[in-house]
Amino acid sequence: MASTLLLPGCGAKQEAVSAPTLDEVFLSRRSIRAYEAGKTISEAEVRTLLEASQNAPSWANQQPTKYYVAIGDEKREAVLNLVGGNKDRVANAPVFIVSTFERGKSGFFRDHQVDAVGDGWGAYDNGLANAYLILKARAMGFDTLIMGMRDADALRKLFEISENEIIMAVIALGYRAQEPRMPVHRPLDEIAKFF
Ligand SMILES: Cc1cc2nc3c(=O)[nH]c(=O)nc-3n(C[C@H](O)[C@H](O)[C@H](O)COP(=O)(O)O)c2cc1C
Repeated sequence: MASTLLLPGCGAKQEAVSAPTLDEVFLSRRSIRAYEAGKTISEAEVRTLLEASQNAPSWANQQPTKYYVAIGDEKREAVLNLVGGNKDRVANAPVFIVSTFERGKSGFFRDHQVDAVGDGWGAYDNGLANAYLILKARAMGFDTLIMGMRDADALRKLFEISENEIIMAVIALGYRAQEPRMPVHRPLDEIAKFF
């Protein structure tokens, strides 16, 4: 291991501070389904994550991703009730980030859909931006759960999200209270062909 980590989940002692390597971030980032109670994450820290996500590439630099951050008690409680079976998993997460993307931007040129993918390019860009966000979160010692199980209609009302935006995931942000297992990954040669 090239650096001494502060990251829980890497098996390193919490002594010296140094930035984790990218591979250490990849390996220790897992979907976390139990969070430490009573811990907070500041708005400034969330802003750092969102700024990191702005470095993600997007179709013709359209940057269609938008975020709605539930960091205050009232909105946080409200979101917690809109994530279905995820509720118990993320009950102690101090922040929820609703991720959307604007329709008709990525994949469109002068209001003309350029190919069959259409707004699928916006979803692609949104996933990339979210990936940057969750990896930056891990690098800062935080943990996340991307939640596709959520009530999009109720979230739209709660945050007054325009009909022009497609609501994708809610991302729980906090500190892990469990050591997750590494999921089984498909054999590389099942998903990749070299020519
Ligand atoms: C688009 C998307 C939606 C997901 N929705 C949920 C969800 O609603 N609840 C949940 O517990 N995990 C959810 N996950 C987490 C996946 O189950 C998880 O990423 C996968 O099992 C691999 O585990 P890992 O993230 O620890 O590598 C979602 C992940 C993605 C990318």
